[in-house]
Amino acid sequence: MKGVILAGGTGSRMYPLTKVTNKHLLPVYDRPMIFYPLQTLVNAGIREIMIVSGRGHAGHFLELLGSGLEFGVQLTYEIQEKAGGIAEALGLAESWVDKDPVAVILGDNIFQDSILPDVTSFRKGAKIFLKEVPDAQRFGVAEIDGDHVISIQEKPEKPKSRYAVTGLYLYDSDVFSVIRTLKPSGRGELEITDVNNAYIKKGMMQFSLLKGFWSDAGTFDSLLRAGLLVQQHRTQEKK
Ligand code: DAU
Repeated sequence: MKGVILAGGTGSRMYPLTKVTNKHLLPVYDRPMIFYPLQTLVNAGIREIMIVSGRGHAGHFLELLGSGLEFGVQLTYEIQEKAGGIAEALGLAESWVDKDPVAVILGDNIFQDSILPDVTSFRKGAKIFLKEVPDAQRFGVAEIDGDHVISIQEKPEKPKSRYAVTGLYLYDSDVFSVIRTLKPSGRGELEITDVNNAYIKKGMMQFSLLKGFWSDAGTFDSLLRAGLLVQQHRTQEKK
């Protein structure tokens, strides 16, 4: 399986922190934000990883991460010219991913769990990772029935459950033909939620519930929360 880290977007929610650097290079406790999604993929046994970033400060990713040697992986870089959405950013990886399955992770998502078992057992279709949260309306929200995901709604005013769809997805290579059918949403983006709903419609979507902590780090409050969670976890590890 190949891995793609999506680190495009404008970082406008984080201004002025993002005036002279990229959101994904900001510190989360003792590491740059992008180290965390990278480590999640490395821990899952993924060795070929593409980083998709926007134009602003793109060279800094290269300076920070280089060839990937330090992490024991091979890194490839791609540029998303405009923030056209998560699904658009993923679409840029098509020829590089080719016929392989792909693990996609958002550059501002911090996970404690290992997804090694999910990656090892993945064959076809798609898989999402859900986490129960108190503020589901900030995320994609999954309605589930037993083992099935019935639908996902992007940032609903009245969430149908407390299960946030986290920024980590496994897809077979059909994902690129799904992306080609998408139309921009109300916010002018190709939405990853539309990709996931297409897999749900085909009856090809699975899910796992995350046990450990998860946080996005794309707002001032969630960045702070993510840093505190990581600090807490590191302190516990040392004990
Ligand atoms: O954090 C999980 C949530 O991420 C999911 O629950 C939502 O379903 C999903 O749509 C997404 O929501 P956000 O609105 O929080 O996504 P945001 O626009 O903040 O983008 C998250 C990351 O995706 C960002 O750190 C970089 C990448 N991205 C985003 C856009 C819009 C790109 O690479 N290119 C883009 O054009």
